[in-house]
Amino acid sequence: MQVRVATQEDYEKVLSFILSHYYTEDPLTIGVEQKEPDNYDIEFNMSSISHGTSVVAVEGDEILGVYLAAPKYSDEAQHIKEESERLAGTKWSQILGILYHVETGANVFERFGVEKAIHGHVLGVHKDTRGKNVGGKIIEKVWEVAKDKGYKLFTTDCTSYYSARLMERLGMEMVFEFPYSKHRDSNDNQIFNPPEMHKSIKTYAKVL
Ligand SMILES: CC(C)(COP(=O)(O)OP(=O)(O)OC[C@H]1O[C@@H](n2cnc3c(N)ncnc32)[C@H](O)[C@@H]1OP(=O)(O)O)[C@@H](O)C(=O)NCCC(=O)NCCS
Repeated sequence: MQVRVATQEDYEKVLSFILSHYYTEDPLTIGVEQKEPDNYDIEFNMSSISHGTSVVAVEGDEILGVYLAAPKYSDEAQHIKEESERLAGTKWSQILGILYHVETGANVFERFGVEKAIHGHVLGVHKDTRGKNVGGKIIEKVWEVAKDKGYKLFTTDCTSYYSARLMERLGMEMVFEFPYSKHRDSNDNQIFNPPEMHKSIKTYAKVL
């Protein structure tokens, strides 16, 4: 298995991979009525490849794991809020709504005294390759690439029980937790209702 930076040439394969092995289980994607991701979501996440900070694990022609990661800056919370308002009524806007609470709560830029960070957005391992630490290897590769590019901080918001467990195993620091039960609409209904084991979004950070 080779773990390397994802390039534009990988675009179509990565897209098809995340549609099968990430979006079908990501708690934010499946936690609402319409379970498919919308195009705003897909386009945003796939644009991470252009920064040269995303990673794939491949065996021959086949992708076994993907970690889409991209830079973010100290005005990220404001940026998320504006995008959420601009795209009001879409599923992606709804997702940005909860991510806004997580970003402000985690407050990673003040907490770590940095102006920029690399943020992991999409982590997916092939369904037949789970439990072999492919996730761990692609995360560590993103850290290495980010560090080489001069970033001092890596962060990620784990929406899944499994990804949070993996970050713990890699020794990352949990800096914030936001329970799904706390995120409610104006009628007091819980907005995201993922499968029972996914109870919260947890933000993890690592100084590089
Ligand atoms: C999160 C994810 C990348 C972890 O994959 P991984 O590299 O296989 O993780 P690990 O090697 O740490 O697996 C550890 C254990 O959890 C199990 N496991 C991991 N993900 C699992 C899943 N989605 N469903 C059931 N079991 C899972 C593994 O089988 C393994 O079990 P074992 O210790 O009994 O062998 C993977 O679950 C995934 O792609 N999930 C779907 C997309 C998603 O939700 N991404 C995270 C959003 S933040």
